[in-house]
Order: sequence, then C-alpha cells, then structure tokens
Amino acid sequence: MLIDTHCHLDFKDFNDDFEAVLKRSIDSGIKFIINVGSSLEGTARSLKIAQENDFIYAAIGIHPHEADKVSENDFKIFARLLKKPKVVAIGEIGLDYYRNISSMENQKKLFTRLLETAKGASLPLIIHNRDSHEDMIGILKNIMGNSLNGVMHCFSGDEKFLKTCLDMGFFISFTCNITYKNAGKLREIVKLVPMDRLLLETDAPFLAPQDFRGKRNEPMYVRYVAEEISKIKGLSFEEVAMATTNNAQRLFRIKI
Ligand code: NI
Repeated sequence: MLIDTHCHLDFKDFNDDFEAVLKRSIDSGIKFIINVGSSLEGTARSLKIAQENDFIYAAIGIHPHEADKVSENDFKIFARLLKKPKVVAIGEIGLDYYRNISSMENQKKLFTRLLETAKGASLPLIIHNRDSHEDMIGILKNIMGNSLNGVMHCFSGDEKFLKTCLDMGFFISFTCNITYKNAGKLREIVKLVPMDRLLLETDAPFLAPQDFRGKRNEPMYVRYVAEEISKIKGLSFEEVAMATTNNAQRLFRIKI
C-alpha cells in the first residue's frame, strides 16, 4: 500500500483518461491520494474530485506563481473552501524564486496571508519552495511559531536546509525526480532523512520517473519513488511503504 501525497489530477492533462488513471492507481496498490490545489479554480476542481472519490482527499492552496493575480475577494472564497469536507491540508503554498513568475513581494504577501489562514484552521501545510530558503524559514517562524506542522514538498535544498526543516518538525517529501540519472546529490539528501519523516509523492502530471521522462506522470508511478528510496536506504520495498504510509496518515490525520 502506497500513498501519493501530492498530485494534480485537476489539471487538463488528465481530461482524456481521468477514470483510467484512477483505476490504475487503485490497481497498483495506492491507498489514498491527496490532490493538491494550486489556484482557486484548481482547488475547487480538487474538492469536487475528492467529493466524488472515496480514496482522494484535497489540499487547498494558491501557488506562489498566482501571487500577482490574487484579490481580496479570493481570500474570502479561500476561507469558504477551507471548511469543505475532505480538506486535509493547506497547499500548495510557498515561494518560488527560481521561476519568479510573480514578484517576490507579492509572493511573500500571499504566503503570509495563507499561513495566517492555515494557523487559524489548524491544518498541516504543503510547502512549495524553490531557491527561497531564507525568506521561507523567516516567514514560517514569524507566522507559525511553534505550531508548525507540514511537509516540504519535492524537496530541493541542501543538507543545511534539510537540517533546518527537520528541526522545525517538517516531513520531507520526494518525487520521481530522485530516479533521474543526474540526481546523485538529491539521493545523498534522501539518505539523511529519517524514515519517520519521509513522504512519497508524484507531483503528477509533472516529473515522470526516469523510464518515462518527458511523458506525463501519474499516481501509480509513486512506486518508483518507493523503490528508489528502498535502494538508497537498503530497506525492503515493504518497509518503505509501511513507514511512508504511516507518516502520511499521521500528518494528514487520515484514518483508514
Ligand atoms: Ni505540485
């Protein structure tokens, strides 16, 4: 049994074969999926998918790429969506100084507002972070203080940043990009993450595993992440599956 803690089945990439993708997920042993919102529209679609499918849960979020576009009214809508059934997290939210699609100032403002909302709702966070380590940690500590609970999704930092995240209590999640030929450094980071803090994700439709690189990713490929972690850590596939499933259930408070 595996859990894909982060994918985007609401993206149009899945329009043509949505039901087949879900069936393949179940047939491949996926216990549950967290579909992660990255815009208000995406979040609404994500909630609908979660309401229509028992084994799918929703995270509601506005991605930093959207930061230049958000209005005050969007926060009101966001607050309403927060109370819907099957919402298990706030995300993805964060900062992206790698692509800088929205201005840094607006990204920081959006991130701060959404964290304040998350704090009030006592929901775990799914954090997107690209090249923004210092601002990220500063804002998180400032707003969340000691009440931090969440995951650094698609981890891309160095050893020092990993230590900071672990000290703050974060779970660390890896995608199929740990299977890439040139991902040696990232695999070294995987070695350093304690098993009781690891989560699996695909971030589908993005980041398909090495064997399918350049193609669309989908939740059933989360097993490639588990296989790679078992190789890196010298554990059995079952040990990785069991630990990461327990972690996901603990963080997102899903009892199955
Ligand atoms: Ni994502």
